[in-house]
Amino acid sequence: MSLMEEIIAAVEAMPPFPQVVHRALKELSEPEYEVADLVEILKVDQAVTANILKLCNSAYFGLPRKVSSLKEAVVYLGATQLRQLLLSGAVNKIYDQPNEGYAVFADELWRHALATAVMGQVLRRHLKLKLDDNLVFTSALLHDVGKVVLSNFVADRYLEIEKLVEEEGCAFQEAEKRVLGFDHAEIGGRIAVKWDFPPEIVAAISFHHQPARAGKSYRLLTELVALANNLTVMVGYGTGVDGLACRGHGLLLEKLQVKERDLENLLLLFQMEMAKTCDIAGVGE
Ligand SMILES: [Fe+2]
Ligand SMILES: [Fe+2]
Repeated sequence: MSLMEEIIAAVEAMPPFPQVVHRALKELSEPEYEVADLVEILKVDQAVTANILKLCNSAYFGLPRKVSSLKEAVVYLGATQLRQLLLSGAVNKIYDQPNEGYAVFADELWRHALATAVMGQVLRRHLKLKLDDNLVFTSALLHDVGKVVLSNFVADRYLEIEKLVEEEGCAFQEAEKRVLGFDHAEIGGRIAVKWDFPPEIVAAISFHHQPARAGKSYRLLTELVALANNLTVMVGYGTGVDGLACRGHGLLLEKLQVKERDLENLLLLFQMEMAKTCDIAGVGE
């Protein structure tokens, strides 16, 4: 088997995306979703149901009485928090493994992904972009999922990749592409296709390091994910060696019309939102 065939086989071997979460997210993206339909979908999965009730009854919400029905919990949490809980529960498991190739600890990639999703939402709101919150959160959360598959392949050829980065000034993902035949963004896009995510999400993942390559109708979402990724690395939720791949955020700031003087405020908002989302996702910051 050639190296490229081996990588494709590793993509195929990825576990499927949890169907209950997929179906619930679809229902939640309807402007007026039916709580009863959502409960029907969610109750099939005991672990998901238990997590929803646990969050609702956690100190974070400080409710005066215990919520024991799934229906009540779904109504109480509302679409945004429910989506964050469901997605982070599913994606945490996927990211949560040692990631040798990118020189990051197991939960570092996960924290970077979650921070990028939060940053994406903060930027979307601040810039009043006409983008669906669900698309922003999901594509930002999954943008580096290709690293989960490429990690071992990168680790085995690290010196070759490092040489290209150091001696030829390649961005990290360009070096991946030259050595492995694929970069992690492209592989992430393939995983998103395998998981049946919509084309907007596939594009945002595939081109998060080269947003100009995304099709016109997907460009705004891709630029937003690219900028969120860069800013996240800037504030310290980095991803080891791949921090070297983050370039050109000056241009992105200009394109998305983020003023330099707004950045400080945005980053403050990000810290506050990140703390909240970590509570919902049940992880430390
Ligand atoms: Fe990346
Ligand atoms: Fe990233």
